Amino acid sequence: MICCLVNKASNIIKIIGISSLKFRTQNVTACAQHNLVIRNVHTTQSLSHGEYEWKDPESEDEVVNITYIDKDGNRIPVKGKVGDNVLYLAHRYGIEMEGACEASLACTTCHVYVLGDFLEKLPAPEEKEDDLLDLAPFLKENSRLGCQIILKKEYEGMELQLPQATRNFYVDGHKPAPH
Ligand code: FES
Repeated sequence: MICCLVNKASNIIKIIGISSLKFRTQNVTACAQHNLVIRNVHTTQSLSHGEYEWKDPESEDEVVNITYIDKDGNRIPVKGKVGDNVLYLAHRYGIEMEGACEASLACTTCHVYVLGDFLEKLPAPEEKEDDLLDLAPFLKENSRLGCQIILKKEYEGMELQLPQATRNFYVDGHKPAPH
């Protein structure tokens, strides 16, 4: 039966851990043997963390130009796009924003200062982000966690400055490469 096949396929995907595949089912109706018949089965590819930021904007309408300022004061202009996470966008351009917890709000290594009036344009931080920021070295009024900043068109021209240090860097100076 189709429903058996779908269940088996779904289980195999779970067992072998293909996390980038999403299994979606629609139009489920009754089935004598298994109580289910799945008429339409779609498989869709979803992007893993950071993959979206490696895609170039498809049109000028999507483009959001921002500038990172590294801890040595170097300005790095980047052509981002609507929906980019500024942590992963930084990784794409080799900017040293670590992101140790991969945007799961469990570190402060994506700490940035949002310059100018762009801070007010950002959505207010969640309580968890605020709590983490309290632990961040070199905390300032305009501190935010980069992994919580998703680009919108109105962020055109935004400047993000990296702090002098973050807490999770390896003691021997090694900096893990972004995934
Ligand atoms: S990468 Fe850990 S909180 Fe942003």
